[in-house]
Amino acid sequence: MVANREPYSHQRLEDGRIVVARPPSGLVTGIEPLLRECGGTWIAAATGSADRECSDRDGRLRVPTETREYTLQRLWFDPELYERYYSGLSNEGLWPLCHTAHIRPSFRAADWAAYQSINDSFARAAVRETTRNGLVLVQDYHFALVPRLIRHRAPHAVTNLFWHIPWPNAEVFGIFPWKNELLEGMLGADVVGFHTRQYCLNFLDSAQRYLECRVDLEKMSISFRGHQTLVRAYPISVEWPYPSASRAQGRELRQSLGIPDDVHVSVGVDRADYTKGLIERVAAIELMLEQNAALRGRYVHVQLASPTRMHIRKYQELASDLEEAVARVNERFGTAGWAPVLLHMRAFSPEEVRKHYAMADSALVTPLHDGMNLVAKEYVASCSDGDGALVLSTFAGAAKELESALLVNPYDSQETAAAILRAIRMPRQERCARMQAMRDQVATHSIHDWSAKILHDLRAVRDQARRVRPVQPLAGAAVSRFDTHESASFLAEEAAS
Ligand code: G6P
Repeated sequence: MVANREPYSHQRLEDGRIVVARPPSGLVTGIEPLLRECGGTWIAAATGSADRECSDRDGRLRVPTETREYTLQRLWFDPELYERYYSGLSNEGLWPLCHTAHIRPSFRAADWAAYQSINDSFARAAVRETTRNGLVLVQDYHFALVPRLIRHRAPHAVTNLFWHIPWPNAEVFGIFPWKNELLEGMLGADVVGFHTRQYCLNFLDSAQRYLECRVDLEKMSISFRGHQTLVRAYPISVEWPYPSASRAQGRELRQSLGIPDDVHVSVGVDRADYTKGLIERVAAIELMLEQNAALRGRYVHVQLASPTRMHIRKYQELASDLEEAVARVNERFGTAGWAPVLLHMRAFSPEEVRKHYAMADSALVTPLHDGMNLVAKEYVASCSDGDGALVLSTFAGAAKELESALLVNPYDSQETAAAILRAIRMPRQERCARMQAMRDQVATHSIHDWSAKILHDLRAVRDQARRVRPVQPLAGAAVSRFDTHESASFLAEEAAS
């Protein structure tokens, strides 16, 4: 498994103690159960201040600490190179490009060079692992070039690239300066996965438009330079049954926040990212309170916002804009004993998040655009008593499956305000019926189904390849022959061809 964000980082505190930190990442929430179940190696970038001393000489350790179910292979990079790859190309380039959230992407040649270099390092680390295991799962937009680099060095490996964010339409994608190289890199995979069928279709269209390849819409496949890539929708999901907090724990939290029992609480759980529609959400709450004076003192929105990617200016701006927007609403409508919006901008553990779900009467999940959004599914899975309302953006992948949510266009504050009001006033019977329909959907399409389907498709590809040509395992020495120099010249040669 190649995924940039490590599932556990070791941080040294000021008092010298070392703590294990969990990142706020839908991807980590989604794929960790697979590793815990199947074992294997997660290759990630080291980010914790005490990561080195908590791994062995090769950067490896068994995680989670208590159960040691799989291996974490940490990689270290030159900080400037990593910054260009992570903040630069990945998060100022591909992230806004794919989310179409009206933030102009930035494309810099030096970031692209860093992206190529770091993709190369991850591919080499993955190839070292494939001597033991023929299936490689590559996660997300940080690693578009990895599948092709792996194919070049370890043709026996069967590779899946899963793109966790949206894939834009071909015109939008067309502004990416290195679009052909990116697509070629991805088409080294045997299977490319997205959350929805629409993203698959956008991807097939982009390949057809920009590469000399054969697209088969019926088979949902792309043949490029003699290699076939299947393009499939695998909607990611959450664990089922879900380890919910109890309503009693929710009530305790409510008391500790000083919220009376008869006040309707909605909850929002997000990374503080401009794609999450947080400013728009606060504006919709403001509008609702403006139009419904009776709700003042009777409604609270609790917003958890985990700081993220703070080296990037747009994220710093979002954090301060959000604080300002919340202060404005609280000043406008709040009273001595009541603030309509409680904003908690810090990292939260999964246990704390679950208590917030248990406290809430409804959840607001209103991103401007989101590949899937696992918070929506987590909230549904956490309502084990079958009661709770969900306001959900139609632009989240989850809206394709959770059709019984109150679906809104988050850009339309009046529509969003009306949906929040409807969630507050909805009769219990309707709330439970809608929640039951959503729970049935998540129960029958859990994270286990997601990983089982991907593994099933990869094994089918592997079995077919073995029938055509028997596997020759790659010897360790052969693997290490592919040094950085060689792969850099491979990329250059291929780009020229
Ligand atoms: C999204 C991306 C993930 C990423 C997560 C957190 O869900 O698809 O790849 O890990 O955001 O972002 P971060 O930059 O902190 O890893």
